[in-house]
Amino acid sequence: MNSFILKGDIIYSKNREELSAFPDSYLMCRDGISEGVYKELSDIPETYKSLKLIDFSGKLIIPGMSDLHLHAPQYGFRGLWGDMELLDWLNIHTFPEEARYAEVPYAKRAYEIFIKDMLTTSTTRFCAFFSIHREATELLMDLTEESGLKAYIGKVNMDRNSPDYLCETTEESFEETLRWLSDTRERHYKNVLPILTPRFIPSCTDELMKKLGGLIEETGLPLQSHLSENKSEIDWVKELCPESSCYGDAYEGFGCFGSHGNKTIMAHCVWSGDEEIELMKKNGVYIAHSPSSNTNIASGIAPIRKYLELGLNLSLATDMSGGTTNSIIRIMTDAISVSKLYWRLCDESKKPLTFPEAFYLATLGGGSFFGKVGSLEKGYEFDAVVLDDSELETPMEGRLSLTERLERYCYIAGERPVEHKFVAGQMLF
Ligand code: GUN
Ligand code: FE
Repeated sequence: MNSFILKGDIIYSKNREELSAFPDSYLMCRDGISEGVYKELSDIPETYKSLKLIDFSGKLIIPGMSDLHLHAPQYGFRGLWGDMELLDWLNIHTFPEEARYAEVPYAKRAYEIFIKDMLTTSTTRFCAFFSIHREATELLMDLTEESGLKAYIGKVNMDRNSPDYLCETTEESFEETLRWLSDTRERHYKNVLPILTPRFIPSCTDELMKKLGGLIEETGLPLQSHLSENKSEIDWVKELCPESSCYGDAYEGFGCFGSHGNKTIMAHCVWSGDEEIELMKKNGVYIAHSPSSNTNIASGIAPIRKYLELGLNLSLATDMSGGTTNSIIRIMTDAISVSKLYWRLCDESKKPLTFPEAFYLATLGGGSFFGKVGSLEKGYEFDAVVLDDSELETPMEGRLSLTERLERYCYIAGERPVEHKFVAGQMLF
């Protein structure tokens, strides 16, 4: 089961700076795990020669990508409302739309569209916020499980500074979280895991944050939230948490910043200062860099080169629908573009991201959150996608290296549906 050989033009990250490229080669999957690349059919050990061979000759085979931060109930309004900053955008557009997910039929229709579209992208794994609504969250968990994609999914907590129609009491928020966790355990999912999801400090009381911190201490559950995205948001957190030395320290004070050794994702980190950065490094917090969102709602440019130099856990994210695209390939090229603006306009010592670096972040960078994921090297879970660049005509055909073909595909066709997708050795299509 889940053992086969793929033939094609194989490419993945060798390390953070370089790609490994194997033209017209063979990639073996055994029981859902990569056995690595063989340059010739004759190199494959005799015992495996009878495995099914799937011929993708002339096509690119790359690792599946990870999207470490998105909001499923915002998927319906992708491409709209990018003309305001975070706090207005939340109050005027986002909260009223998220409130609709109290209605299960509406949520079902929306989430079916979301999953159908996610299947077509290069993403094999994602971490998603849902709304405060437990039933709709469970519905999306079921749909994700059935799709074969792998994900951490979180019921959102909000018990203050939110409109009445999208606000829980502290008790309700915590009790519903416990009920959701227990329902999730009973469903014995293979592909989906729960992740605690306080929306951000402005929408969660100290009491609720402390309860979530206590739950992490008891259970080791992972957590996802937002951090230092927008200047008005940061000023607001200073007022709400006057004792804390920075926004990250406020999460830390509640036990919600990875200090219990639990996996933690913080989206954005556009304006993080030295102390906050140090704390993220110490606790192994993953930064979900979301350049499309940071541009749309004018949050700023995250100092991504600085985070790379400091060796922080770094990943890419669409942040739909602050971000517009559902494609992590498109996010890779956006990340490169904004890093050039940062270099030119903010700090000339911080060189732009290179293409191999962005590819690394999209694959191994985010994949490591899920375990041994994000590479086609021997020993990694077999997440792979097949891309067809044959229709992207150019007179340079035949002269381009594999790396150049991949780079060109990412820039000019990154939002096209992928040809085939494998997750943990399962061929989805
Ligand atoms: N901060 C709190 N909620 C949100 C959200 O929905 N999107 C973004 N981009 N930032 C947030
Ligand atoms: Fe977000």
